[in-house]
Amino acid sequence: MTPLLTLSPHNPDPDLIRQAAAVIQRRGVVAFPTETVYGLGANALDEEAVAKIFHAKGRPSNDPLIVHMASVDEMNLVAANVPPVVKKLAAHFCPGPLTFVLPKLPHVPASVTAGLNTVAVRVPAHPIALALIRESGVPIAAPSANRFGHTSPTTAQHVLDDLNGRIDMILDGGAASVGVESTILDVTREPVMILRPGGVAHEAIERIIGKVELRNNRPNSDDEAQAAPGLLGKHYTPNAELILCKGEKDSALEKLFGLAKQAQAEGRSVGLLLANEDMASFESCVPYPLGSSADLESIARNLYAGMRALDNQGVSLILTRDFGKQGLGLAIHDRLLRAASQII
Ligand code: TXA
Ligand code: MG
Repeated sequence: MTPLLTLSPHNPDPDLIRQAAAVIQRRGVVAFPTETVYGLGANALDEEAVAKIFHAKGRPSNDPLIVHMASVDEMNLVAANVPPVVKKLAAHFCPGPLTFVLPKLPHVPASVTAGLNTVAVRVPAHPIALALIRESGVPIAAPSANRFGHTSPTTAQHVLDDLNGRIDMILDGGAASVGVESTILDVTREPVMILRPGGVAHEAIERIIGKVELRNNRPNSDDEAQAAPGLLGKHYTPNAELILCKGEKDSALEKLFGLAKQAQAEGRSVGLLLANEDMASFESCVPYPLGSSADLESIARNLYAGMRALDNQGVSLILTRDFGKQGLGLAIHDRLLRAASQII
């Protein structure tokens, strides 16, 4: 059994933070809340501690980790050069769901960066995460705290469901407020490029610095991971089969309706991962309303929790649709593409 400590997300108890930091300092792994998803943290500068992250998750060693710092000023503890564009963006988005890919310093272990000469760094906007980093006194490497390939965790219970007994401690700070991972921005190239869409929208970044490229994010095959880090093909998957219906709302819902009827005729239990207003026309499916489709923040916040909740209710098929590519829609689209067994 992994011990779980419950903390106030606004005002974490310093004694509990000290206990968690002590685990980090003795090379342990601690799951902790961030505003995006729960992370599985260890001392980023200690090879042995970092190895435990990969082992606990069953994560392949060619998939590099994000290093979490308590402030933008500290990024130069792991990065050889922090270009001015970082300062400019940080003024708007840090702490927050924006990760920068920077040239790395030699003392960052190769296992953190999967042998790349760059390191991914972010400052999380969560009082528990920040307190843990400060109290530990080291940068904390942390991927999402799920079994490799599974749906990312947005609550401590999700972490427990995946990693109980495999990690040293879980800090419970309630549900994540953003619900999808950080946007990863490669600032070692010109123009800078979004490698993974996430909690900070492409448009929002462009409003500050002008043109930003978007990497062609079609899922890659798994052995391409090294060349295209972070974009392993199949990822974020629930246990149930997930079918994503693309296209405009009405045509997507029509396709979904047909699929639901057919699956039910075959005796399958069908879960719906849809906007509140989409649910009306479906009968005897298991609904997981994500919020209004006009409120993409709500859709993002509930997305992973919905996949896990439907799995827990034993459905064998989850049906969902696209929510466009504007703003947070792009990150939602990216995660659904990777979670899907079929795209129709
Ligand atoms: O919101 C988040 O970013 C969460 C929380 C815990 O901070 N973390 C997260 O970590 O999503 P993870 O490991 O699930 O995804 C990080 C991705 C990896 O898939 C990795 O390939 C990419 O970031 N990455 C890390 N270092 C990189 C580098 N040097 N160059 C390019 N991509 C990198
Ligand atoms: Mg992950």
